[in-house]
Amino acid sequence: MSVLIKGGRVVTAADDYVADVFIEGERVSLIGEALDVQADRVIDASGKYVLPGAVDPHTHLAMPWRGETTIDDYESGQTAAAFGGTTTHVDFCIQGKGQTFAEALETWHGKREGKAVIDNGFHIAITDLSTAERLEELGRLPEEHGVTSYKLFMAYKDSLMVDDETLFKAMQVAASSGALVMVHAENGDAIEVLTAEAIAAGNTSPRFHALTRPPELEGEATNRAIQLAHVAGSPLYVVHVSCAESVEPIALAREKGWNIWGETCTQYFFIDQSFLDRPDFEGAKYVYTPPPRPKANQEVLWNAVRTNVLQAISTDHCAYLFKGQKDAGRDDFRQIPNGGPGLENRLQMIHHFGVREGRISLNRMVELLCTNPAKLFGLYPRKGTLAVGSDADVVVFDPEKRVTISAATHHSRSDYNLFEGTEVVGSPELVLLRGNVIVDGTELLAQPGSGRFVRRARFGEELRPAALQTA
Ligand code: URP
Ligand code: ZN
Ligand code: ZN
Repeated sequence: MSVLIKGGRVVTAADDYVADVFIEGERVSLIGEALDVQADRVIDASGKYVLPGAVDPHTHLAMPWRGETTIDDYESGQTAAAFGGTTTHVDFCIQGKGQTFAEALETWHGKREGKAVIDNGFHIAITDLSTAERLEELGRLPEEHGVTSYKLFMAYKDSLMVDDETLFKAMQVAASSGALVMVHAENGDAIEVLTAEAIAAGNTSPRFHALTRPPELEGEATNRAIQLAHVAGSPLYVVHVSCAESVEPIALAREKGWNIWGETCTQYFFIDQSFLDRPDFEGAKYVYTPPPRPKANQEVLWNAVRTNVLQAISTDHCAYLFKGQKDAGRDDFRQIPNGGPGLENRLQMIHHFGVREGRISLNRMVELLCTNPAKLFGLYPRKGTLAVGSDADVVVFDPEKRVTISAATHHSRSDYNLFEGTEVVGSPELVLLRGNVIVDGTELLAQPGSGRFVRRARFGEELRPAALQTA
């Protein structure tokens, strides 16, 4: 099967030009002006952007946690992703206490089988590193499982949190195995104290989710992780950076040339702390972690992504129902499942409010949503760009299409949308995964099970199709 995408504006992290893209089988085989080739299917892309399929490095599909399971499984979550122009994501495989990593990975592979409509890899989320066997197994994950990033939670004392000894040992393993360490950076011990005090004082409403997790505690943990990673000699990626207190230590470390990277998520640009006060318990929709911050942080985050203090924008898609899951916390904010949906709307939101409103360039948008996540997580140049030999993961994006974002039309199973009612201009029209059209307008064409697991390269190494390897 061959496809010719004709006359679109091809935009990568580096380039922006009108060209034809010729796809043979699963890969891009030619990019050029007015290509003289025969194709099984010709797509007219004039007036459209031709973008690399977006890569989301932070999602939680079918994740059991604190007695609830996130409402999007691999089929619904990846369908939402596909409609939003995301063709690859890296999901968190959570190690149960006492479990081997191989057991955890087997469970997560089972979740995607027969359901996946886009490609994905796994990060391992470490909860238990207490034996020599686990430490040794951790070092083998890149080679044996194609899992080249380790995530550790510095908060959630009731469930996922690890101590500094575990964090530091994981960093030491990563320094020799070639993995990238990721941290959820908040001081879990201090949050536990503040939370207990709030409840004892009768402060149970959603706003206390934010007030018991102040930005200083994110800043402290971010700085602690940075210093530990520097001593251990491992690269570090700070997930869901939400505030100035966390941006500042990352900026300082990067100024010193340290191997520190970071992401923020779409919601932190648009949703501020006041959303938690919405009436009728609607504030619970915005209970995710770190919490929505005071509005001034939004400009700090735009600056951070513009100046490369942060290199990626993810979604942290962790979807729950408002009615039936979030409402378990009506009388106690601690019982509100933490997380929100977002996989489908990242490209639309960042294009409209980032590019159209002049905060970042079109190239920088591609870099933040596609190329950098692919580079940092061992997927590039197979994913994250449009180049000869890359997987033909392509978004034909209509920059003038008007859309009103709504739970009534989104593809997540969540009964609400974080950006409900937001009007954006610009939306994916056609999405291809490895040369196959998987979304055409409002139609999903991918078969459940057609998405593939991607074994990722080690941090700093490239993932090339075997035929194109240079050395
Ligand atoms: O609230 C959130 N972010 N839920 C998912 C788990 C995490 O901390 O990433
Ligand atoms: Zn987190
Ligand atoms: Zn997360």
